[in-house]
Amino acid sequence: MSIESLIQSLPKAELHLHIEGSLEPELMMHLAQKHQVDLPYKSIEQVRKAYQFEDLQSFLDLYYLGASVLIDEQDFYQLMWQYLCQCRAQNIVHTEIMFDPQTHTHRGIGFDIFMPGFLRAMEVAYQQWGQSSQLILSFLRHLPEQDAIDTFVQAQPYLHQVTAVGLDSSELNHPPTKFKSVYAQAAKKGLKLVAHAGEEGPPEYIWEALNELQVDRIDHGVRSIEDPELVQTLINKQMPLTVCPLSNTKLCVFDDMTQHNILSMLERDILVTVNSDDPSYFGGYLNENFLALHQAFDLTPAQLIQLVKNSFKASFLDESKKRYWL
Ligand code: ADE
Ligand code: ZN
Repeated sequence: MSIESLIQSLPKAELHLHIEGSLEPELMMHLAQKHQVDLPYKSIEQVRKAYQFEDLQSFLDLYYLGASVLIDEQDFYQLMWQYLCQCRAQNIVHTEIMFDPQTHTHRGIGFDIFMPGFLRAMEVAYQQWGQSSQLILSFLRHLPEQDAIDTFVQAQPYLHQVTAVGLDSSELNHPPTKFKSVYAQAAKKGLKLVAHAGEEGPPEYIWEALNELQVDRIDHGVRSIEDPELVQTLINKQMPLTVCPLSNTKLCVFDDMTQHNILSMLERDILVTVNSDDPSYFGGYLNENFLALHQAFDLTPAQLIQLVKNSFKASFLDESKKRYWL
């Protein structure tokens, strides 16, 4: 079997996906028209043309602009539904999906609008084809910690539907320690903890996520390689990194895919996984990320299988479900 067929046919898990980053230009333009939202694009081609990024912030500016078309419950249902259909098409049997409440609450759209939309789509996908999915509530790190704490209070009625909290948005100058109290509150509620760290930020931010926030997983973490002691700690702890190859090249974290360090990390026995981050902005869903790695590195079946197994191992599935897939 070719590697391309193996990529498609293996049952896979995805652990780093922002639902707002799966908003395809077609749905964005449709919802803009539905709600009379004024976007600076006249056509779907213009939207795609605008997706040229020089760093994380240049992407985030368009990502928040795109999210402004999401207004009613049906919009959030459709957004989630379209991603879950991609999961089905790509044989992603389990997915852990991040959402950014503050991106919506700051526009006057509450948990009572987006949560029912997300959950309804997740339930229909589960009923129709057994799609396994979980939610990760992510705080926006460019906002003050008090805003995250207020958001966590608003989330209380929905916490039984949430698996973990996360931390995303502009990394530089917003170190993990800024969110120590809200992470302690989330841990007390029994939630798992993840945080973006070492995407653009220095290895110190990964140390902080580990030691101050006590995270269960690191999102990205590709800059860990700059600190040998940190690398050894990640290996010893078997701390998962949710790496996003197409995202990293689109946001110029690496000049091109051949420069990416995921395979050297895999070789060193770091628990790395492959993910799509914001697929509609970065040119591909999970399988396209594996294909891009294959094009750059000529992946062996053993490497591919190890990467896929790592995602189940690093997931928040309960042990019996993990064992089923491993
Ligand atoms: N929000 C959506 N995608 C993100 C990324 N790659 N880094 C930080 N915040 C994000
Ligand atoms: Zn991300």
